[in-house]
Amino acid sequence: ARPDALPRDLEGVRVVVSAGGTREPLDPVRYLSNRSSGKQGYALARVAAQRGADVTLVAAHTVALPDPAGATVRHVSTAEEMRQAVHAAAAEADVVVMAAAVADFRPANRADHKIKKSDDQPDPVITLDRNADILAELVRNRRSGQVVVGFAAETGDAQGSVLDHARTKLKRKGADLLMVNAVGDGKAFGTEDNSGWLLGSDGTEIPIPLGAKAELASTLWDAVVSFMKR
Ligand code: CTP
Ligand code: CA
Repeated sequence: ARPDALPRDLEGVRVVVSAGGTREPLDPVRYLSNRSSGKQGYALARVAAQRGADVTLVAAHTVALPDPAGATVRHVSTAEEMRQAVHAAAAEADVVVMAAAVADFRPANRADHKIKKSDDQPDPVITLDRNADILAELVRNRRSGQVVVGFAAETGDAQGSVLDHARTKLKRKGADLLMVNAVGDGKAFGTEDNSGWLLGSDGTEIPIPLGAKAELASTLWDAVVSFMKR
């Protein structure tokens, strides 16, 4: 939709959106990361700003994307940096949307120098430590009336479908809304389109047909607006 065709129903609402994928360094030149492009988070920030919100975007490695007009952008790299930036912004926010792909683990040791291979040393083994779960912390520290939205990228497996995993994750995370994207086989990551479900803690389940990431963003903000009215 053109910006002037959008409702101004987020006027005065302070929102925080995280986007992109964090990088967890192994040494000065190497890192562990994921395939998130940041496009969905950017679309969320852009649409929220167009609908009148006061937007802070916390972006991890979304380098090819221009900063969305009207948003305050904080660029971060690691999960820990994202954690600090999101909590700082969330302290004064009405809505927090965790669209970023936050690394679950980081290398336990970060080498000061480039790791070298050697014929007389055994090959290195990477030990991982668990990163803090930012979304879980947001839910625990939630300000009164604050709406917390999570994202889940699921593939489905022998234990259950994409939707089964998502329903379990919504309960486990305690978020108000969970946007579930089906991923794998070229779906979602880095593409222009997304599909899935928007699950509410009140039991609502809105199917999201395959469409532009801006369309999904509009549907998500519609759901947030009706959540804030309750
Ligand atoms: N998330 C977060 N901090 C983390 C990991 C994830 O805030 N350390 C957030 C993501 O931004 C997303 C939601 O939690 O909004 C779900 O992320 P996901 O990776 O699907 O869930 P996990 O709980 O990490 O479960 P798993 O990866 O094992 O499926
Ligand atoms: Ca995860």
